[in-house]
Amino acid sequence: MYYQEEIVEEVRARSNIVDIISGYVRLQRRGANYFGLCPFHNEKTPSFSVSPSKQMYYCFGCGAGGNAITFLMEYEQYSFPEALQVLAERAGIQLPQEELTDEKRQQFNEKARLLAVHKDAATYYYYQLRGKRGEPGYRYFQSRGLTDETIRKFGLGFAAPGSNHLYQYLKQKGYTDLELKESGLVRIEERGASDRFWNRVIFPIMDVQNRVIGFGGRVMGDGTPKYLNSQETKIFDKSRNLYGLNEARKSREPYLLVCEGYMDVIALHQAGFTNAVASLGTAFTAQHGLLMKRYTSEVILTFDSDSAGQQAAIRAMPILREAGLSVKVLNMKPYKDPDEFIRNMGADAYRKRIEEAENGFLFELSVLKLQYSFEDPDQKTAFFHRAAQELLRFSDEMERTNYIEAVSREYGIDFQNLKRKVNELGNLGYTPRTERKTEYAPKKTERESAAQKAQRMLLAWMAEKPSLYGKLKDIVGPSDFTDAICRKTAEYLYEQLAHGQPNPAGIMDHFVNEEESFKQVAKIFYTKIRDDLTREEQNRSFRETVLCVKRNSLEEARKQAQDVAQMQELMKAQASLKNLNISLD
Ligand code: CTP
Ligand code: MN
Repeated sequence: MYYQEEIVEEVRARSNIVDIISGYVRLQRRGANYFGLCPFHNEKTPSFSVSPSKQMYYCFGCGAGGNAITFLMEYEQYSFPEALQVLAERAGIQLPQEELTDEKRQQFNEKARLLAVHKDAATYYYYQLRGKRGEPGYRYFQSRGLTDETIRKFGLGFAAPGSNHLYQYLKQKGYTDLELKESGLVRIEERGASDRFWNRVIFPIMDVQNRVIGFGGRVMGDGTPKYLNSQETKIFDKSRNLYGLNEARKSREPYLLVCEGYMDVIALHQAGFTNAVASLGTAFTAQHGLLMKRYTSEVILTFDSDSAGQQAAIRAMPILREAGLSVKVLNMKPYKDPDEFIRNMGADAYRKRIEEAENGFLFELSVLKLQYSFEDPDQKTAFFHRAAQELLRFSDEMERTNYIEAVSREYGIDFQNLKRKVNELGNLGYTPRTERKTEYAPKKTERESAAQKAQRMLLAWMAEKPSLYGKLKDIVGPSDFTDAICRKTAEYLYEQLAHGQPNPAGIMDHFVNEEESFKQVAKIFYTKIRDDLTREEQNRSFRETVLCVKRNSLEEARKQAQDVAQMQELMKAQASLKNLNISLD
């Protein structure tokens, strides 16, 4: 659906950002703004700010920022039309239902269109499984012990042998070749179109809003690859989604069970463990951690018991801890994975293993221990040295003591000795070896130049003090902003100021579909104007800012100058800047 600018503005204007965000983040008033713990990175002290007057949010820690619409898009991973729909509903506004013209169809939000393709594809596979052609698939699921109810609940399906059944079906639904190509569900080549999934049982992958965003397909029996997954698309980001989380988030258990595969999640849910999730055939990322942190503070890893699975658990642990999750590890021996364990031992035995799940640190140490033989006194000493080093990761005194105690008990080391060793290494400046820091901050943007900073400052000033517009408009125009984002922002801001009050959140509406841009726009409006300066200092700083913007713009223009006359003109303008008389009052 394509919406007119006016309706977008109306919906946003009638939504209060503080109310919206309060539904997700505990906010506390501090002066004119609200503060809380940022939902987009892990932090202990609040640097996430929400401004009722600007109707915007901004995190001073990680740089996330935007308006009510972008918040829902980022947090809930809604597409733009979906976010608008939710806000409209809350505000009691009826959105227009337009018939789409061909041209509008082009403008139709790409993400929404991709979601529609996936929904239709999922429906198609689902009915295929139930038809005559789907019998082998249905038998396969039965052989793996899945009930009809489970098959229905997970929307499992079937892709029949044949080269382009799905393509034909989706074409007849009205999707263009381009849209289908974008979805990755079909390949479009010169000699024709062919489906990605072919003679496989299908696992639709849903996001937390139950929207189908991708598929996994398994061969029935042996064959390679065993699983084939959707490629990443605009709606399918493997590092930000977890299989089964749409169901698991509703579970009442205070922890999540984290396993490795589709079948594990399904087997666990069927056995009553509806709090199980899996990553989608990829390593755990910081985003996975933060995603889980929204719903729980504890995870139990139930990875395969082979060494690959154990190594995967070791790698996942620091990442999950960094997101603020406490981690335990479940032992499934002698079985390989949760699916096999439950089929052989039953749900009660699995529940018992949950109760016995080992603390993550002790698990890591036990894996480390495999590299050392206690028969050899040197190796034994080396292991204790390493253990002491790893214990340094606990900075809290009491926590550290408790762990020293647990380790000394587990490995039969004298408590006092171990404690002395830990302190000794600490004093020598040792740091734990396995704890890696993961990168949460958004991609490092290029360092801001002085000119860019001045442009940002000037826009912040104008948004804060609309009266400056009258003084500035004949000196600095939108075209003087050489930074692309600043220039676009300036164009909108000047337009608003020419007709009335500034409306930063309204400006954001123009950037909602460009994640990197809207963060930068949010940053502009959150640029702090120092109020601890004397009036005179403020005036000087303001004049310097204006001069910097203007000088930079003339300098850029000179680089582009076509002829001598133009060049001289610009140099004259540069020289006359000396006499520029402008101040805040
Ligand atoms: N996987 C994948 N591609 C493969 C193999 C595995 O994407 N070629 C991912 C899948 O998400 C799979 C998970 O890794 O569910 C675990 O793989 P594996 O342990 O090999 O399979 P199981 O989950 O045990 O699958 P099954 O029980 O069906 O054999
Ligand atoms: Mn398995």
